[in-house]
Formats: sequence, structure tokens, C-alpha cells
Amino acid sequence: IVASFGAQVLRGLKVVVSAGPTYEDIDPVRFIGNRSSGRMGFAVAEAAAQVGAEVTLVAGPVSMATPPGIARRVDVRSAAQMRDAVMAASNGADIYIAAAAVGDYRPAEVAGHKLKKQDGAPLELRLTENPDILATLAAQTVRPFLVGFAAETHDVERYAQDKLKRKGLDMIAANQVGGGLGFEAADNALTLYGPEGAIDLPRASKTELARQLVARVAERYRAVRG
Ligand code: CTP
Ligand code: CA
Repeated sequence: IVASFGAQVLRGLKVVVSAGPTYEDIDPVRFIGNRSSGRMGFAVAEAAAQVGAEVTLVAGPVSMATPPGIARRVDVRSAAQMRDAVMAASNGADIYIAAAAVGDYRPAEVAGHKLKKQDGAPLELRLTENPDILATLAAQTVRPFLVGFAAETHDVERYAQDKLKRKGLDMIAANQVGGGLGFEAADNALTLYGPEGAIDLPRASKTELARQLVARVAERYRAVRG
């Protein structure tokens, strides 16, 4: 049975959605960020609420209003803060959908004062790898159903399948970035990978794609967790 959107297919379930970029501070006025707008994650959160889920939205720094029906919104800035917020919200949650573009690295030290130019000498920043939120959750014995995203510029399927396995996920939503799709764009196109193979969700608005994604996640969740 294909779950139709609009039925309350996630009623009674706690769903955590992360969205947006993270910012890693360099000094009091500068940071390292990325081009994630948060639109896909916010649309997923809204779609999950529309089908009855109790949604906690963990948002990186974005300028977006909270969609209707969201039970809780937690705003964070850095990857470490996002990790803490997601881990807290995921305790007892049924599904975690990781739509956030989590920064992979942060400056090894954050300067307490504004860095000044050094007479033309190059500036070197040392970066430390951030914790992997999905992998941390996947390592727990009791864990939510885990849905990752993989935004890739090339070799989309290979990288997505690799992340599905390496991070121990239940599903991954992969998209090609660029050409008017993906980051900073209104439209997207996704391919879902899971144990049951690949499902193409062709180019559409992020609102429409989010609804289709949520319907597929609900279907798969019910199949494996009841
Ligand atoms: N992710 C995460 N914690 C991180 C980095 C990524 O939870 N520190 C999640 C993202 O939210 C996304 C998935 O992992 O759902 C894949 O993110 P991606 O950046 O594509 O994968 P990485 O493992 O960081 O690999 P790379 O950036 O090198 O391609
Ligand atoms: Ca990454």
C-alpha cells in the first residue's frame, strides 16, 4: 500500500528534523558557513507535522519563520550545538531526518578578539573535524529511524550508497547540487536509497518533494517498526 499524503500516517510519532547550515566562529566577527538555506528541512518539518507527527525542528542560522504545526523549534549556530540539541531531542524520538548541512570542520581555536591583517603575510587557519551527528545516533542501541541527506556535486549514487552504509542509516535522500537545484534553490530533485532499492522523486518544489519524502519515510518506518 502506498501511503497517500494527507492521511495521518505519522500520528502519534515524535519526529526530529534538522535544517539549515551551521556556522563555525573564527573570531567575534567572522565564521565559516555554507550555502544551505534551510528550505528543504523546513519543508520536511512542515510536511511531517501535516501528517500528524509531533515535530521538533532543530534549525541552524537561517532567516525563516517556523512553519505551522511545529511543536518545538530549537535554534543553534555551530555543529557542536546542533549535535547537543539533536541528541537531546532524539531521546525517545521515533524518526530523525537530518536535512541540515552540518559543517565538517571548525577552527581549532576561536580568537577572542578580531583577527588583524599581518602586513601581507598569509593567514593559516587550523581546522578540527566536527562530530558526526548521524553516526553518533546510529551507534546507540536504542535509536530513532534515521534518514540522512547527501548533497553531492558528482557521483551522487556512489557517495549516497556509501553514506547509507557507513553511517548505518535506514534511508538516504540524495540530490545533485547545481544547475538551479539544491542549495539556495526553490526546486530540488531527490533519489531515495534504502534496503529496498532506489526511488526517484523528480524535480519539484521543495514543498512537494518534502511531502513525497515524508510519505516514503512513513511507509518504510511502518514496515520495519510497525
Ligand atoms: N551529518 C551529520 N553530522 C555531520 C556531518 C553530516 O549528521 N558532522 C549528516 C548530514 O546532516 C546529512 C548526512 O550526514 O544528513 C550526510 O552529510 P554529508 O555532508 O553529505 O556527509 P559527510 O559524511 O559529511 O561527507 P562529505 O561531506 O565528506 O561528503
Ligand atoms: Ca559534510
